Amino acid sequence: MTQSLHLRRPDDMHLHLRDGAMLQGILPESARHFARAIIMPNLVPPVVTARDAAAYHDRILAALPEGADFQPLMTLYLTEETDPADVAAAQASGLVKAVKLYPAGATTNSNSGVRDFDKVRAVLEEMAEIGLPLCVHGEVTDPAIDIFDREAVFIDRVLDPIRRATPGLRVVMEHITTTEGVAYVRSAGGDLGATITTHHLVINRNHMLVGGIRPHYYCLPVAKRERHRLALRDAATSGEAGFFLGTDSAPHPDPLKENACGCAGCFTATNTMPILAHVFEEEKALDRLEAFTSLNGAGFYRLPPSETRLTLTKGAPVPCPAKIDTGAGPVTVFDPGFALCWSVSH
Ligand code: NCD
Ligand code: ZN
Repeated sequence: MTQSLHLRRPDDMHLHLRDGAMLQGILPESARHFARAIIMPNLVPPVVTARDAAAYHDRILAALPEGADFQPLMTLYLTEETDPADVAAAQASGLVKAVKLYPAGATTNSNSGVRDFDKVRAVLEEMAEIGLPLCVHGEVTDPAIDIFDREAVFIDRVLDPIRRATPGLRVVMEHITTTEGVAYVRSAGGDLGATITTHHLVINRNHMLVGGIRPHYYCLPVAKRERHRLALRDAATSGEAGFFLGTDSAPHPDPLKENACGCAGCFTATNTMPILAHVFEEEKALDRLEAFTSLNGAGFYRLPPSETRLTLTKGAPVPCPAKIDTGAGPVTVFDPGFALCWSVSH
């Protein structure tokens, strides 16, 4: 018996599209399945102003394949110089759906991020006022804190104080990786949501480190212990409104991953939907896949769910390309370590 699922087309609420030749090469991978995506602003230089976001939005639309039905939802990169009035104008333009907070130095291209949180207080207050969500890269950068503890410490030291000081601020904890992240979202009201990536539902730190170091499994926040992966699976498959898909698909050319100092980022745009169908089937939660991929994120961002549909069909294993060739070099597609038996059609 063939098994089929009909879903509203998914939204990817955390995506890196880059720019130039890389954008051109990888955009079709997201546009094929996803209706919309929240586009991360960590370009070099970053997308800081409403004007930068409008220009980047135009470049993305220009790079879309003919006939594609994909809407980029733009974000601004929060710096200590961000002007609250520009943020309000960006939201009013209709293009910008969130502001992204990177603690300075936390991850790829985060040097212009925030060092002194008091300097962004006025922006956060404006955002609370106008209901514009703050997307947070939730890791402290204190060198004394172990990399595996950086998310849990961030919640206590940074995120909870910001939320208490700014009532009404709507926050998305991006790419949560820990039991502490899951518990914090569950303890909060509807003003706090979290994205969960594809790869953190599949790998733990052993997959990355046992039997040889696997650079294509290295991302930030770094994959944690198995008990954390299981907590993420429980949250993603729960159907709870606060948890939604953000792939954090983050392409880097292979030579920069397979390197003595390899870049952080897993590229999952190509095979996220078949992988998620596999994971939700394992968890006996296929009936909650649509909530995770297509309803909860739209709900948090106060967008109508997408009207178009996509079909997932289970059958014989379907091949997936190992790499995507781009004008910026080859990009390795995330290997989930199992055959993909779900295929996607429209
Ligand atoms: C992202 C990137 O490469 O831009 N890398 C990653 O490991 N996730 C940045 C980020 O989201 O932290
Ligand atoms: Zn990211």
